[in-house]
Amino acid sequence: MTPQPRLARTRAIVLAAGLGTRMKSRLPKVLHPICGRPLIDYVLDAAEAASGSRPLVIWSPPVEAVRDAVASRAETALQAEPRGTGDALAAGLTGLATLAGDAPAELLVLSGDVPLVEADLLDALLAEHRAATAAVSLISVITADPGRLGRVVRDEDGEVERIIEAKDATEDELEIEEINSGLYAFDAGWVRARIGDLRPSAVTGEIYITDLVALARADGRAIGSIQVADDGTLDGINDRAQLAEATFAMQARINERHLLAGVTMLDPTTAHVDASVHLDADVTLEPNVSLRGSTRVAAGTTIGTGSLVVDTLIGRDCRILASVLESSEVEDSVQIGPFAHLRPGSSIGTGVKLGNFAEVKNSRLDAGVQQHHMSYIGDAQVGARTNIGAGTITANYDGKRKKRTTIGADAFIGVDTMLVAPVELGAGARTGAGAVVNRDVPAGKLAVGVPARLRDPRPEPEEPAPG
Ligand code: UD1
Ligand code: MG
Repeated sequence: MTPQPRLARTRAIVLAAGLGTRMKSRLPKVLHPICGRPLIDYVLDAAEAASGSRPLVIWSPPVEAVRDAVASRAETALQAEPRGTGDALAAGLTGLATLAGDAPAELLVLSGDVPLVEADLLDALLAEHRAATAAVSLISVITADPGRLGRVVRDEDGEVERIIEAKDATEDELEIEEINSGLYAFDAGWVRARIGDLRPSAVTGEIYITDLVALARADGRAIGSIQVADDGTLDGINDRAQLAEATFAMQARINERHLLAGVTMLDPTTAHVDASVHLDADVTLEPNVSLRGSTRVAAGTTIGTGSLVVDTLIGRDCRILASVLESSEVEDSVQIGPFAHLRPGSSIGTGVKLGNFAEVKNSRLDAGVQQHHMSYIGDAQVGARTNIGAGTITANYDGKRKKRTTIGADAFIGVDTMLVAPVELGAGARTGAGAVVNRDVPAGKLAVGVPARLRDPRPEPEEPAPG
């Protein structure tokens, strides 16, 4: 018998159906990336850790992409029209009822736009909520700059009475410096009974989740609250300025983790490292580098100033300077740059040197290959220790199809050689300066001229006997 899936005691609902108009963007607000991940992903991390279950994300048709973006890790529920956070919670409760298993006893409700929130704060909120046997608990922040945020109104005894939205507030209420962070815990049974009693704001016509606080008070139920420092951690993202601030803070958090794990950063404020990047201890990042996506860098490697590395594996003891590396693999002790470009599908063997303006695309360079200056190797296989002279080009495209070039080990490609693919050069083959090679060159042969003709290379001069 298959056991019935059980809903956890705590379920997190993440509100993400709003239009986010202040972002002035075609992309839904919560999908804007921070350090390479949609910002809602960070909220889902915290929600999942604190609730111990798959979060439920509320989306609406204008931001349908949200549903698809979270589908692999969250349940989703539709809010037919984004009529406010209270209506979004109502949609969440309807969605929860359709999930198999027991109904949860308590709910964590989070705004999808608070990416810096961490699970331990949500744990503290749940602890307070349970200790107070509250109907609703919230996290507030004391700030000198309460702006457009909801104000927490307290009675003479300091108990939370209600939350008033800035747009609906009186002059006096706007003076309140304790703001609502948009993170709540609810008694699930209570909120189910009361959600239908929310009424639209007379000022904005929106249905506010925050009005549930006054309803709990009217029911004589306890309201839990914890206050946290105004360090920006709970700032919602509503516009691009706030997005930039949160990105800066998240990057600092990521970089701190790497620094403590043994990565050297000459200037952590200009090291842009996606959340998904893996760096071994003893990696060095110089100023102004960007490491993106699934990039991994092994010990002893330095990523030099002005480098952009995307989805690339880099081995040990490499030195990359002012270069762009995309979707490629680099083995140990490789030197790249300045101003080299690895395009997707490149595989660079141990000890290879790629110098100024070297471009490699979809090619394998075996160990010890040298490609020092201004050349393009595309759709090619290059054997170990082969030297690619300055200005060498693989003419891999005939206007219709890409064709391959194969060069054996220990070959010497003279400066300004044109390798007209498909073409194969054997081990130890050589080309003269300016050769246009449009036929295969057997192992050990020399190709010279335009188009190139084959010759036997002159024998190497004998080493003078020592003496
Ligand atoms: C909300 C709070 C405010 C608090 C602030 C903290 C309300 C009424 N106000 O204001 O007290 O100080 O957060 O950041 O809740 N959403 C929906 N459906 C909707 C509307 C919004 O899912 O119909 C989602 C949004 O996508 C967003 C979250 O709810 O993730 C909050 O909405 P937002 O418009 O940012 O609310 P604030 O004005 O910031
Ligand atoms: Mg907001």
